[in-house]
Amino acid sequence: MDKLVIEGGKPLSGTIVIQGAKNAALPILAASLLAEGTTTIDHVPELLDIDVMLNILRELGCRAEHSGGTVVLDTETAHTSHVPESLMRQMRSSIFLMGPLLARFGETQVYLPGGCAIGERKIDLHLEGLKALGAEIEEFGNRIICRADKLLGADIHLSFPSVGATENIMMAAALAEGRTTISNAAREPEIQDLQRFLNAMGAKIMGAGTDTITIDGVQSLTPCRYKVIPDRIVAGTIMVAAAATRGHVTLQNTQPAHLSSLIHVLRRAGVQIVVDGDIIKVGSAARPKAVERIVTSPYPAFPTDLQSQVMVLLTLADGVSVLKETIFEGRLKHVDELSRMGADIRVDMNAAFIRGVPRLYGATVEATDLRAGAALVIAGLAAQGKTVVEQIHHIDRGYEKIETMLSRLGARISRYSPVPNN
Ligand code: EPZ
Repeated sequence: MDKLVIEGGKPLSGTIVIQGAKNAALPILAASLLAEGTTTIDHVPELLDIDVMLNILRELGCRAEHSGGTVVLDTETAHTSHVPESLMRQMRSSIFLMGPLLARFGETQVYLPGGCAIGERKIDLHLEGLKALGAEIEEFGNRIICRADKLLGADIHLSFPSVGATENIMMAAALAEGRTTISNAAREPEIQDLQRFLNAMGAKIMGAGTDTITIDGVQSLTPCRYKVIPDRIVAGTIMVAAAATRGHVTLQNTQPAHLSSLIHVLRRAGVQIVVDGDIIKVGSAARPKAVERIVTSPYPAFPTDLQSQVMVLLTLADGVSVLKETIFEGRLKHVDELSRMGADIRVDMNAAFIRGVPRLYGATVEATDLRAGAALVIAGLAAQGKTVVEQIHHIDRGYEKIETMLSRLGARISRYSPVPNN
């Protein structure tokens, strides 16, 4: 398995262009199934998760090419709505294929995605939403069969603003008969991007970005060309890395409004942030200040996907900070690895109490999930000495060639791929 080797202690500096958003591209690729013909999607990053989604679409009979950041997807030849279990297990978020497959074929077979390092990843809200639209759902162990001769608009209330459930329901309802409303909907920018994409295909959806989304079903949708928004979590990760290494970095191709909660936290920690259009400048020459209390919550509050990265900054702050994780029940596993690098963190239930230390020390650490892995890279960049990050396939799921990206900002980081012992 590949490893990253990092020589820490060097401030990041320079300019970087932010990649397209993984969590916008994935549902948009799934939604492409709703229209027969060739859809072109620009600004799609080269990531393991994107590869898995394209392989699933090919398995369903589509033709898909991904080069130079553009995906050309011909869904005309899609001939089955049964998603192979092996591919679903590679990426749990593929569960939001149910909506488009059900709307297009009237039937689909998928598999329970199963839990992962960060949590159980339940899908009850997805299933309840599709049932409300008239779907009949049968579960045989981990296999789920979903049928609907006709999808009918309905009023749906989500008990939790689930991102994936909101997306699944939006995509199914786009071709349902009548009006669907989703109340307590997720408000993430990726939901807004999905609405823009679906409407570009001829859907009639309003309200994404608020807690109530209205979908007036249409007879059919037509393929289109669409450009995906920038990845706010990758941008946020780079911003924290710049702050943690006391560097000065300019980020281009961002949407600062998507990062307002992080910008607020970084400014409270004493980091200089200048916003100018789609450019964000991050600078920090001094030791950060502790941030009394940060709680992860659904957008627009502080995102769970930046929790582990900000924790690294706080391990080097003056004073004690409290970071509370309320979205995923297993998303504090990076604490053990950071402690091995000299961090002083105590966990009580889903809250981490972080007392700043003068410095972190390089160590061999293991990525347990995508964002925890990114956090360990930041810790290695800020630490004194050498850090080896193992299991970096987790990181490759969401960051396009992370070592290349960081090397361009002056980081001393290399990827090692062990020679297969054949
Ligand atoms: C999306 O996951 C993102 N993934 C996640 O990013 C992100 O952390 C998450 O939203 C929260 O913002 C993609 O968009 C591909 P949820 P999703 O449904 O849709 C519970 C990353 O690092 N829940 O909002 O799976 C669930 O257990 C990834 O890029 C139910 O109980 O998130 C979790 O505790 C990680 N029942 C919480 O809601 C359901 O039916 C949030 O889940 C669905 C979810």
